[in-house]
Amino acid sequence: MIRRLQQRALWVIWLLGTLSLAAYLGWTMQRTDGAEVFLPGETSHGHYQIEMQCSVCHTPMSGVKQEACLDCHATELEAADDSHPPKKFLDPRNADRVAALNARLCVTCHREHVPEITRPLGVTMPQDYCFRCHADIGEERPSHVDLGFQTCASSGCHNFHDNRALYEDFLVKHGKSPDLAATLLNPPRDFAARYRQEHPEAASALTIAQHNGPADRTYEPTLLTDWAETAHAQAGVNCRDCHVDPDAGPQWIERPAHTVCATCHEAEPKGFLLGHHGMRLDQGLSPMTPGMARIPMKEEVADRALTCVSCHRAHTFDTQHAAVKACMGCHNDDHTRAYLGSKHHTLWQRERQGTAAPNSGVSCATCHMPREQYQRGGNTWVEVQHNQNDNLRPNEKMIRSVCMNCHGLRFSIDALADPKLLANNYNSQPSTHIESIDWAMRRVKTKPSDASKKENEKR
Ligand code: HEC
Ligand code: HEC
Ligand code: HEC
Ligand code: HEC
Ligand code: HEC
Ligand code: HEC
Ligand code: HEC
Ligand code: HEC
Ligand code: HEC
Ligand code: HEC
Repeated sequence: MIRRLQQRALWVIWLLGTLSLAAYLGWTMQRTDGAEVFLPGETSHGHYQIEMQCSVCHTPMSGVKQEACLDCHATELEAADDSHPPKKFLDPRNADRVAALNARLCVTCHREHVPEITRPLGVTMPQDYCFRCHADIGEERPSHVDLGFQTCASSGCHNFHDNRALYEDFLVKHGKSPDLAATLLNPPRDFAARYRQEHPEAASALTIAQHNGPADRTYEPTLLTDWAETAHAQAGVNCRDCHVDPDAGPQWIERPAHTVCATCHEAEPKGFLLGHHGMRLDQGLSPMTPGMARIPMKEEVADRALTCVSCHRAHTFDTQHAAVKACMGCHNDDHTRAYLGSKHHTLWQRERQGTAAPNSGVSCATCHMPREQYQRGGNTWVEVQHNQNDNLRPNEKMIRSVCMNCHGLRFSIDALADPKLLANNYNSQPSTHIESIDWAMRRVKTKPSDASKKENEKR
């Protein structure tokens, strides 16, 4: 009897303790100052920049809701043609698989603040998880019989979400493409043409004499010539179009923020705010700086704020400077440093000197900020992707948007699967070969499967 009472008292104490801790945590998670004390462990590479915003993920008293993840990631996963969306697991025929592993919930595989079990891409699930649902794959595919059950998701074979460049029919369709395409072409930018078509009212070019900056000031002469000689003045964009915020009144703003750019440029700020350069600004936090980064950066720029002008420099907005020099001003890892002198860099220099065709060069931006095509008003336009994380990981994302403008699929898969080439910035032949492409071609030759027929109809 006494034992039972003691036990009950322990339960009450435990419950009270837990409740007050939960309430306290709930309270602190609404605040951003000092909340790091309550982090149970280091936050993952993807989220550490915004970890102080506890409430974007946590709902007080009810843990981490699925909707939080979907709010920020649903669009991207949909665009990636997610092979395993949660809705796939609502189908009762897959109930046994959900019992093996509840893939309906993101946190089954992506927990947080657990560095000891966190693998690249914030994955906290042991590597054999594909096998839990696809143990029978060896029976159906002779090529897969002897494969280890941790190898499914190795580079160049399969991803859990994004398999756009790895689907069997895609492998077969492009399996024979030569290592280097006959025409090497990064799609040309067409911003000026697009702008002029959509804004027939666009003003004509302005001269220095027409500038509308405060008249009682003297300006660096280069500031005025930079402005007058570049795209903005050419398209009639005057000083006050950037230096005044119409919603805030007529006063001159000395250092316009990215929000000003967004009044005329829609897509670029959107992309910028989604990646590692702008995600802090997106949460209303101070801008990211190289000093806060986890990857190697140049020390002398530790405090430089990341905004549009980090790459574009106010008043020149020179896109060539933005594409290489700007990046190298901050980044300082082996991969970045190896770019100088690489074959791609030589192509970029030749293009800039005019000794090679326009758009045949490969800059940092060619790979990390690709020119993406989209449809609007019956036209196909090109826009620069400003989220440099959009195609970064898993790196097969780069195959379709970047490499295949110039290289074959087989070469691209092999090159991206080779970690040595990441370190030397793609400056030698791949030393490995991923066999999935050979298997896919052999399999289709012998017996076209229902699955691949279905895939072909889809595309
Ligand atoms: C990007 C999303 C995200 C942010 C931001 C975030 N967390 Fe978490 N946190 C998670 C996820 C996911 C889990 C794992 C939940 C699970 O396993 O069900 C977690 C787990 C925890 C846990 C372990 C207890 C539990 O609920 O499972 C604590 C404590 C915690 N977080 C505190 C914090 C605090 C304090 C902050 C802010 C300083 C914060 N977190 C910010 C996503 C986040
Ligand atoms: C406030 C928006 C926001 C919320 C909420 C959020 N994320 Fe993220 N997440 C980001 C951003 C921004 C990045 C970094 C850019 C990128 O990798 O696309 C990121 C990165 C990631 C990555 C890639 C990590 C890497 O190393 O490349 C994964 C996986 C991820 N998030 C999963 C989740 C899951 C699961 C949840 C829910 C627990 C979640 N996120 C909640 C914004 C968010
Ligand atoms: C069964 C495990 C599993 C579940 C469930 C899961 N993921 Fe993932 N996620 C992964 C793996 C593994 C990767 C690494 C890349 C890959 O294999 O696709 C990844 C990568 C990501 C990435 C990086 C970008 C990309 O395209 O790969 C994001 C973002 C992400 N997951 C978000 C989510 C969200 C949001 C959910 C919930 C709707 C979710 N994940 C559910 C295993 C899972
Ligand atoms: C929670 C269970 C589960 C896990 C874990 C899982 N899958 Fe699947 N997978 C499914 C289901 C369900 C389907 C739907 C087709 C089917 O019924 O086989 C599917 C389909 C596929 C397909 C066919 C492609 C498509 O879009 O239809 C491939 C390839 C695949 N999975 C590979 C993998 C790989 C590789 C992993 C690990 C990275 C993995 N799966 C992890 C359940 C799972
Ligand atoms: C397309 C937008 C844009 C236009 C047009 C523009 N500016 Fe600026 N300007 C900026 C931004 C952004 C900054 C902040 C730079 C920074 O933070 O380093 C800035 C900074 C400045 C500064 C203070 C910093 C410095 O570099 O000395 C002055 C002065 C200035 N601009 C004057 C002008 C004048 C005069 C004109 C017209 C001839 C003009 N700007 C046109 C965007 C613009
Ligand atoms: C009042 C509208 C307006 C604002 C505000 C504005 N821009 Fe522009 N921007 C334009 C127009 C118009 C063009 C040129 C279109 C053309 O070439 O005909 C342009 C062109 C550009 C280009 C392309 C230059 C090139 O050589 O291809 C960049 C980069 C750019 N803007 C960045 C910015 C940044 C960064 C900001 C904020 C500091 C900003 N813009 C603010 C209207 C604006
Ligand atoms: C990390 C560097 C970087 C940052 C930060 C950056 N840009 Fe860019 N931006 C570039 C590069 C590089 C190009 C040209 C890419 C090319 O030529 O393919 C470009 C191109 C542009 C263009 C021309 C677009 C087109 O489709 O031709 C505009 C407009 C622009 N940026 C606006 C912005 C605005 C607004 C911001 C802030 C929200 C911003 N950029 C932030 C690097 C950057
Ligand atoms: C003002 C300094 C600065 C400039 C300029 C800059 N970056 Fe960054 N970049 C950063 C910082 C800081 C991060 C965040 C790193 C982190 O979270 O550890 C980052 C992140 C990245 C990432 C994501 C890395 C990851 O592991 O998720 C890529 C890719 C990247 N930058 C490429 C570029 C390219 C390409 C350019 C030029 C077009 C560029 N950067 C220009 C400072 C800069
Ligand atoms: C041929 C295409 C290509 C070129 C050119 C290129 N990169 Fe990369 N970069 C990649 C790939 C692919 C990855 C790796 C993604 C992965 O596997 O994690 C990467 C990774 C990165 C990362 C993330 C590293 C990390 O540890 O998280 C940064 C930062 C980066 N690149 C910056 C740059 C800069 C700066 C330049 C120009 C000096 C550049 N890259 C040129 C393809 C390229
Ligand atoms: C605009 C065209 C273009 C794009 C885009 C491009 N490349 Fe290249 N790449 C080339 C050309 C041309 C060469 C050969 C240069 C030479 O031999 O002088 C090359 C060379 C290479 C090499 C070195 C081969 C050797 O013999 O040393 C590798 C590896 C490579 N590219 C990988 C990639 C990857 C991976 C991507 C995508 C992330 C990519 N490239 C994107 C044009 C491009």
